[in-house]
Amino acid sequence: MMTENTTSAPAATGPGAAIGPERPRGAEVVLDGVSHRYPLHHELDQGWVPWAIRRVSPAARARHEAEAAKGSSLHVLDDVALTIPSGQFVAVVGQSGCGKSTILRLLAGLEAPTRGSVVVDGERVTRPAPERAMAFQEATLLPWRTVRDNVALGPQARGRLAIDQRRIDAALEIVGLRDFAGAYPSTLSGGMAQRAALARALVNRPRLFLLDEPFGKLDALTRLGLQDEFSRLWASQAFTAILVTHDVDEALRLAERVVVLSERPAHVVADLEVPRLLAAAPASADYQDLKARILSLLGR
Ligand SMILES: Nc1ncnc2c1ncn2[C@@H]1O[C@H](COP(=O)(O)OP(=O)(O)O)[C@@H](O)[C@H]1O
Ligand SMILES: [Mg+2]
Repeated sequence: MMTENTTSAPAATGPGAAIGPERPRGAEVVLDGVSHRYPLHHELDQGWVPWAIRRVSPAARARHEAEAAKGSSLHVLDDVALTIPSGQFVAVVGQSGCGKSTILRLLAGLEAPTRGSVVVDGERVTRPAPERAMAFQEATLLPWRTVRDNVALGPQARGRLAIDQRRIDAALEIVGLRDFAGAYPSTLSGGMAQRAALARALVNRPRLFLLDEPFGKLDALTRLGLQDEFSRLWASQAFTAILVTHDVDEALRLAERVVVLSERPAHVVADLEVPRLLAAAPASADYQDLKARILSLLGR
């Protein structure tokens, strides 16, 4: 488990220190005028038989015209601007399908924005990099590899497997999976699988942690436990964290700042600071007020 050494901020000793002897700084993130469109592929039947059918069937003709009238791209993000200082924990909330995951994909370097710039630590993001880690709703572990070998994927891909053994052990220790290093993913609970996925990211010493609803599918108790552990991890490892979620309580519980997105095409409609004491007092009027405000911005 992530325990005592991770509660006080800089981990000078213990497993946290093994991950980063010199404490890495969290990444600085700047999204400037970011718009994004996904190309759409039309299902237009161009052959002479469909053409002949359209001649005789008004319904087929109407369907064809509606399809042809659709834009050739899906406008997902519209002029998103966001500056995130080193080490901040930001939650991004928005309705399903508004473009939250797209923002993370742009930051991960899996997608290039149609317009605007995505800059991490002063450099434009053009491709994925291990210091920008991503965690998904599914743990996405390779089923034929043990937990340890899944965690070792990054170092192995970079030819550092022999050098990074201690770091792999430390990552397993931090997430409380030391005793399950030899287990296969199919034998793990959902929470344990997510821990393994976190360890796989941690071993690369991420400076930016991109979280795409990673706690969303867990049962309530496991979710609370893992949220707490991730919160301690953030405090000890000093990375910048961007958590995408549709769960406002999760956002308020974990983040220092909540960015609310509009419907698609998404832009930032509110950028709210979460006072430190608020997260610990979900029953307080202040917490409930802030939560109600965010929910109303989300149209709920
Ligand atoms: N590769 C893609 N090609 C076309 N459309 C996509 C692609 N990825 C996502 N979309 C669409 O873009 C919209 C935003 O997707 P996403 O960023 O995943 O939303 P969210 O994470 O907020 O639910 C959705 O309507 C989705 O169907
Ligand atoms: Mg999503």
